[in-house]
Amino acid sequence: MAEKYVAKMFDISNKVIAITGAGGILCSVMAEALAKAGAVVAVLDLREDAAAGVAEKIKSKGGKSLAVKVDVLNRQSIEEAHKRVEGTLGPVDVLINGAGGNKKEATTSPELSFFDLPESAVRWVFDLNCLGTIMPSQIFCRAMAGRGAGNIVNISSMSAFHPLTKVLGYSAAKAAISNFTEWLAVHMAQNYSKAIRVNAIAPGFFLTEQNRFLLVDEKTGQPTERGKSIIAGTPMARYGAPEELLGALIWLISDASSFVTGTVIAVDGGFNAFGGV
Ligand SMILES: NC(=O)c1ccc[n+]([C@@H]2O[C@H](COP(=O)([O-])OP(=O)(O)OC[C@H]3O[C@@H](n4cnc5c(N)ncnc54)[C@H](O)[C@@H]3O)[C@@H](O)[C@H]2O)c1
Repeated sequence: MAEKYVAKMFDISNKVIAITGAGGILCSVMAEALAKAGAVVAVLDLREDAAAGVAEKIKSKGGKSLAVKVDVLNRQSIEEAHKRVEGTLGPVDVLINGAGGNKKEATTSPELSFFDLPESAVRWVFDLNCLGTIMPSQIFCRAMAGRGAGNIVNISSMSAFHPLTKVLGYSAAKAAISNFTEWLAVHMAQNYSKAIRVNAIAPGFFLTEQNRFLLVDEKTGQPTERGKSIIAGTPMARYGAPEELLGALIWLISDASSFVTGTVIAVDGGFNAFGGV
């Protein structure tokens, strides 16, 4: 009885969910979990093979999934992916904007000063994270607006609340994503439908390929000074596991959060709450 009550509140079965960046570490875990919860999952990524691998894994476990190549920075590519997903799986209920990342060349270091950061690298990081969230939202939200229902989840970062040292482009872009999340939530509710919700998750620190070069010494495998200070700055004193994002994600996608829009939910072991003393 109690179990059924909770299960009904968080039910996402048969929802059609498109996830960009779903060939990557965090979003592939999301894609597999959402399929396990009964959702129909479109795995979207620039790396077609990675997307196909995730979709195959879902299908091998009895889930419903479709792999689609997309470049979140190319309008035509997003239009085509959207068309293919809706044509194959039906109307998309949820878009998760997961594609994002950072690169060494847009990060200050003893070898690369702020003054010398190449414009091309900063632009690459800014565009991937910021425009790579705005453009898919434009295309998927148009269809949601037509139906009067939909749900968007963006992926922000700790660097949005307080910029993290070194990662200039990434911090600026993620701050823009949190801002855009609030903007779009208001815009969709006021102009299209009160049943279109837009929220974001701000993950704390998860050791992935995107940040490994900053957190682990390549030669020794030991934590870098930055890695040590992240753990010291996280009251729970560890990195997160990708699975620990799932509770917040399913809550945001389900009716359990039906009055929640325009929020950025930190899943961070207390990092954002900690003043350092
Ligand atoms: N790892 C962390 O600790 C952390 C913390 C906060 C936020 N995030 C965010 O979470 C999201 C996922 O990060 P991750 O750590 O799993 O990284 P990841 O590098 O494993 O995954 C990112 C995916 O995005 C895809 N991608 C890159 N450019 C693309 C494009 N133009 N079009 C479509 N897909 C593209 C990549 O192929 C990759 O599969 C990102 O937005 C990242 O910024 C990660």
